[in-house]
Amino acid sequence: MHLSQLVLRNFRNYVDCEIDFPGRVNLITGGNAQGKTSLLEAIYFLSTAKSHRAYPNDELVRHDESWFYLKGIIAANSDVDNDGAAPAETTLEVSNQLQGQRRFKLNGDVQPRLSQWLGQFKVVFFSPESLALVKGAPSDRRRFIDLLLCQIDAAYLKQLQDYQLVLKQRNELLKQIRGKQANPEQLDAWDSLLVDHGLFIIQTRSRVLKQLQFYAEEKHAELTGDHERIEIRYQASPPLKGLVTADQGSSIAAGELLDKSDALVRFRTALDASRRVDILYGTTSVGPHRDNFSLVLETRKQGVTLREDARPYASQGQQRTIALTLKLSELEVIRHTTGKTPIVLLDDVVSELDDKRRAFLMDLLGRLNAQTFITSTQREVLDGQVEDCTVLTIDSGSILQQEIR
Ligand SMILES: Nc1ncnc2c1ncn2[C@@H]1O[C@H](COP(=O)(O)OP(=O)(O)OP(=O)(O)O)[C@@H](O)[C@H]1O
Ligand SMILES: [Mg+2]
Repeated sequence: MHLSQLVLRNFRNYVDCEIDFPGRVNLITGGNAQGKTSLLEAIYFLSTAKSHRAYPNDELVRHDESWFYLKGIIAANSDVDNDGAAPAETTLEVSNQLQGQRRFKLNGDVQPRLSQWLGQFKVVFFSPESLALVKGAPSDRRRFIDLLLCQIDAAYLKQLQDYQLVLKQRNELLKQIRGKQANPEQLDAWDSLLVDHGLFIIQTRSRVLKQLQFYAEEKHAELTGDHERIEIRYQASPPLKGLVTADQGSSIAAGELLDKSDALVRFRTALDASRRVDILYGTTSVGPHRDNFSLVLETRKQGVTLREDARPYASQGQQRTIALTLKLSELEVIRHTTGKTPIVLLDDVVSELDDKRRAFLMDLLGRLNAQTFITSTQREVLDGQVEDCTVLTIDSGSILQQEIR
């Protein structure tokens, strides 16, 4: 995919800025606090309707203003679909009022459903926050998987939204039952829905983790000179342990579900078993909202192989490499599933890699033909690494200079 133009109005420190991106590699440079990350954030928002760092979206509105507007144009024929069709130019627009209405347009037409707007334009974002994939909470890892799936599977977003709604209603009912304002039998209908949507989510997540694991093997070996291996393990919430695997307890490196009817019965049984506790606490303790995946790092040193959970044991550098592996694997999953190569956003990353790893990364992105946006305070960071790099110098939310180096 190729983003050919971006317009930002009242977004973070941008007042009104229109930028063309003719080339594949774009280096966004400038001093601290000039708007480099905000530019990548705008591109990310056009893909996901979310910021990678702010919630709620009101923080994105320029101070003392009441709205922001973003527009992105995806060039025609910039990728060929899986079915061989070459898409026409696509225009994406979003306007967001402070504390209020958001409007999404696709090729000039307002989209009543966000799901019809999302996923037109695919991005993979690596930022310092990506380290949370390794050292953050299970919710950070669930978010990564969910956002990846939303980019490749429209049905998943719908199921996830339905599941979250059912979960919310069930939790409200649990509190009412605790307060003797409702009967426990009323839970039955919600439980059936929870199991239906929940199983779809678990199944889809475990399948995508299997794909991620496949690409992560290769990427991690390349990034570490074949000294390390990474293994991604699906972890269902404890009461659902047997659900995802038969042979390795609750988790397998490449999750595959049990037979569907068997899984439905097990899920339902676990939910029934936790009903008393759920009423006591007024919250649902079983289901994919408690899922996780673990990262097992295998290192080979002087003929000895060590296997450790990456979260407590990996060094800073190892954690960064694992996070980069996950992101590059995410790109491969999106590319192979959709036939579209995502746009790659790298915030404050390349300056932290040594020359060898930076060259490897640029080489890899070049082979993938991925359009890439890289921020750095150092103008020279890609010198000698890429041909035809567009360098944009940003100063206080304006483009000071745009040149090809
Ligand atoms: N809603 C907002 N309205 C106006 N300015 C904002 C808003 N949100 C953030 N800013 C400011 O925008 C500026 C640019 O922030 P940004 O994070 O994009 O900088 P950066 O160029 O990535 O800097 P660094 O090199 O330190 O990472 C900062 O001064 C920040 O305080
Ligand atoms: Mg920044």
